Amino acid sequence: MQQESTRLLQAGKTIAFVPTMGYLHEGHLALMREGRKHGDVLVISIFVNPTQFGPAEDLQAYPRDLDRDVSLAESVGVDIVFAPEPEAMYEKAYQTYVDLEVLSGYLCGPSRPSHFRGVASVVTKLFNIVKPHIAIFGEKDYQQLTIIRRMVQDLNFDIRIIGVPIVREPDGLAMSSRNTYLSEDERHSALSLFQSLKQAEESVAKGTRDAKQLIHAASELILSSPHTKIDYVSVCDPETLEDVDRVEGPTLMALAVWVGKTRLIDNVILKP
Ligand code: PAF
Repeated sequence: MQQESTRLLQAGKTIAFVPTMGYLHEGHLALMREGRKHGDVLVISIFVNPTQFGPAEDLQAYPRDLDRDVSLAESVGVDIVFAPEPEAMYEKAYQTYVDLEVLSGYLCGPSRPSHFRGVASVVTKLFNIVKPHIAIFGEKDYQQLTIIRRMVQDLNFDIRIIGVPIVREPDGLAMSSRNTYLSEDERHSALSLFQSLKQAEESVAKGTRDAKQLIHAASELILSSPHTKIDYVSVCDPETLEDVDRVEGPTLMALAVWVGKTRLIDNVILKP
């Protein structure tokens, strides 16, 4: 891949890049369609990155279907699928990590302590391998996108980062490869994530500004659905991710909820 990227750069091509963990859905395809607009060559990676999974997380169970992914990628005009084996990415003696001191500690940080270290490290490696001019990430993983933007700035990567809005199922559930874990009953309860964010949006439109009030109402709505357990509901600054008391400007409302054994995330930018 590195040799191919060097060849493309020498030929004066612009490389757009979409990193993924595969099991592609419409959300990923939206990132690829965006990538198609920005590069002469569109590269995606498919790599279920072990270093971003905690010891009790779903690394083994994570859904995989490379053949299906390759045809979906082809259908939206992807030129190159880079799908390395874990041993090619992490040699036995591997020991170098990229860690963001502050941003990794908020939102998903406390319940996934080494997750963003794994993400920042693998994205750094993928950037060095693919050598893109532009890289595209989804806003569903809002904290991840914020971390990548910070990392690119801090480490002087010469790469433009583009965020793409969340793609939802017709009933509002944010698309995620992990949705495939949900039973029919849980799938129904999972809707409470979107509904609670929508309720908050409506409440802000009617004049509510108090963050605690918004968090309380969202939590009540989520917990009224069976199988749900809240990891966090946060109302925070969209750049620093620090909690805010009041919604005065564009404000991120982000949440993580266990629905049965599946942990789902979703978010919205509240605009008073
Ligand atoms: O968002 C994802 O799928 C992953 O976190 C990423 C960016 C591909 C890194 O493994």
